[in-house]
Formats: sequence, structure tokens, C-alpha cells
Amino acid sequence: MAMKGVIASAVRTLASSGSSASSTTFTRHLHASAGSKKIVGVFYKANEYAELNPNFLGCEERALGIRDWLESQGHKYIVTDDKEGPDCELDKHIPDLHVLISTPFHPAYVTAERIKKAKNLQLLLTAGIGSDHIDLKAAAAAGLTVAEVTGSNVVSVAEDELMRILILVRNFVPGYTQIVNGEWKVAGIAHRAYDLEGKTVGTVGAGRIGKLLLQRLKPFNCHLLYHDRVKIDPELEQQIGAKFEEDLDAMLPKCDVIVINTPLTEKTRGLFDKERIAKCKKGVLIVNNARGAIMDTQAVVDASSSGHIAGYSGDVWNPQPAPKDHPWRYMPNHAMTPHISGTTIDAQLRYAAGVKDMLDRYFKGEDFPAQNYIVKDGKIASQYQ
Ligand SMILES: NC(=O)c1ccc[n+]([C@@H]2O[C@H](COP(=O)([O-])OP(=O)(O)OC[C@H]3O[C@@H](n4cnc5c(N)ncnc54)[C@H](O)[C@@H]3O)[C@@H](O)[C@H]2O)c1
Repeated sequence: MAMKGVIASAVRTLASSGSSASSTTFTRHLHASAGSKKIVGVFYKANEYAELNPNFLGCEERALGIRDWLESQGHKYIVTDDKEGPDCELDKHIPDLHVLISTPFHPAYVTAERIKKAKNLQLLLTAGIGSDHIDLKAAAAAGLTVAEVTGSNVVSVAEDELMRILILVRNFVPGYTQIVNGEWKVAGIAHRAYDLEGKTVGTVGAGRIGKLLLQRLKPFNCHLLYHDRVKIDPELEQQIGAKFEEDLDAMLPKCDVIVINTPLTEKTRGLFDKERIAKCKKGVLIVNNARGAIMDTQAVVDASSSGHIAGYSGDVWNPQPAPKDHPWRYMPNHAMTPHISGTTIDAQLRYAAGVKDMLDRYFKGEDFPAQNYIVKDGKIASQYQ
């Protein structure tokens, strides 16, 4: 509740201005050294869009709206979108930065090699949710703290998933494409457009986003299933009317629509390979806003080409940005977008405020809200282990 208050007040400040771990011997002196810090932010570039909305804080140009605040305290704030390749801007700052902020939308891949070179690095902050762009084992071994703005964009993603489910079920994209191309062929759409009512929707992962999605699906009168490491609180489970499926492989053949809502971990990487996709119902629709690498890329292409997957939609790719020749751009019946669902303007205000709050606590030597930690004192959060 207190955290909510802090975030809400920071959101208000950021929105109106329009501008802009605990220490152990193991941790790299997270809160030990006072004085000026070098903070590097890696964000997507907005170019001509940067000036169109004063609350567009998540882009490189606005840099979370924290530049004036950081610089007024004597800190150095470098911001770039140039994160890969031999002479990239990010690598120039790796040897002496203290804090690296990145977003899942334009991830700075923090490899073991980069961590080794980053002798002053103490803190890795994710402006959003999902820190799989960081080698968490290497970060833990190096005594770094990794934290994200837990909960900051869960509503944004759940709403987007609901939209993608409807887009696939109603076969919307080919209809839109017909209109853009000057065509009018009702039959070309209608032969595979359905109602959502009465269909079975299963979420793989029912954490913050998965639960919000199930709640939003309730009024559509579907059969709702979920698979997770842990069961939802019984009262909420009953309220939503979702049934727990302990065995993922037993749930999959029952689902007309499958939504992926787990983090990318060692256990979920490649979870949907050829064999697992074969267990899904023929004609299944899959929505994945979680992480691209949870799917086997080629297995999705093959199953979409054969019609086993009748539609695939999501906004996450491996790697990001997706190269021009990424096969998901060209497979049939997809409704893919760039990584956008968690970076609505509302989400940006929340994760910008969350990053500012954590930096403020870092400067003051205070702990972060417990749920934000992904790596702390050499330990990786349980679901990432
Ligand atoms: N596309 C976007 O913009 C966007 C935005 C936010 C989050 N995400 C992704 O969505 C993921 C989920 O976010 P969240 O806020 O709901 O996280 P969360 O931690 O609240 O929920 C994750 C759920 O997955 C479950 N889980 C973890 N590993 C599992 C496994 N091996 N098998 C079954 N269940 C497992 C956990 O028990 C938990 O209930 C994030 O980790 C991130 O990768 C994407």
C-alpha cells in the first residue's frame, strides 16, 4: 500500500513535469559508496514521435523523465539505443558504469562477458517486467542487484492479450488486409471466424498478468483453465471460475486458445517445442506476450504452415529487435507486432516512476520493495531458478 502511494506520487510528478539492497560483503557495495554515480539507460529511439506526447517517457529522447533529477544530484546520465555490435555506445560505458537501466522492449543483453568487464557495476534495473535479457547467474555470482518494476505493466499486457485472442478468433487481420488491398471477399474471412463464447482458453502461467487476463475473460463465458507452479488463492479461483491443471500436457489438448504468461527461465526456454505443440488441439490459437524464446521458433513456423496452429499472435521475439528475415514475419495466419503491449503511455508513467523510486532508494541506501528483486545478495528469485 505504501509502495503504491510512493509510485502514485512519483507518477504524478513525472506526468505533470512532462520532461523530462541491502549490503552484504558479497554484494558489490550496493549502498556503500556515496557520491556521483554513472547511470546508463538503454531505450528505444522515438525520432519524430518523441515530441508528440509529453508523457512519452520510455523512449531514448525522454529517458524516463529523470535526467534533470539525476543531474541535479551530481550524477552522470548517459542514454543510448545503440546496444549491439563491435563499437556500440553501450560497450563504451560498460567499464565504468554503476547502474544500467534497460527495458524489455529494447533489451540491453547483459551477458557474462559484459558483467566481467563492468568493474563498477552494482545495479541492473529493468524498466518494465522480465529480466531475462540479463545473465542472472553471472549477475548473482558477481554480487550485482537486479530489480524490475514488478506489476508496472500487467494491466497493459492483459488487455493486449484479450485483444489478440479476439483478433485471432474472429480472423480479423486478413479482413483488415483485404480492405487495405482494395478487396471485398467475405467468405475468405467467414470460413474460419468464430465466437469466443463457449471456447476453452488456457493460460500457461497465472501470475499477475495471467490472473488479470482470466478476470477479463470471465464475462465472455469461456471455459477457463490455468497451469502454474502454484495454485491461485481459492477464493479468487472460485470468483474467476478457472480450473487448475497441474499437468501442462494434460491441459493443452483441451484448449482452443492458449496464452503464455510465464517468465523466460531455464525451465520455460523452448517449452513449446515440436513435441509439445503436437499435443495441442489441431487448429489451436496461441497468444504469447511473455517471451519469444519460450517457443521453438521453427516449430511455430512449421505448425503454422501445416495448420496445426491456426493463428499465432504476440509481441515478443528472439532476439529483439527481430531481424528482417525472422521467419515469424512470414508464416501464415500470424498477428505479430513489435514488442509493444507493456509500453503504453500509462505503463511508461508507472515504470518510469518505479525506476525513479528505486534509484532514490539506492542513493539513500534503502531496500527496494521485496517483490521487485530478481537477484539480491547472490540469490536469484525462486521462479527464475
Ligand atoms: N510483452 C510485454 O510487454 C510484457 C510485459 C510484462 C511482462 N511480460 C512477460 O510476462 C511474464 C509474466 O509477468 P507477470 O507480471 O505475470 O509475472 P508473475 O511473476 O506475476 O507471474 C509469472 C507466473 O508464472 C509462473 N511460472 C513461473 N515459472 C513457471 C513454470 N516453469 N511453469 C509454470 N508456471 C510458471 C509463476 O508461478 C507465476 O505465477 C514476465 O516475466 C515477462 O516475461 C511481458
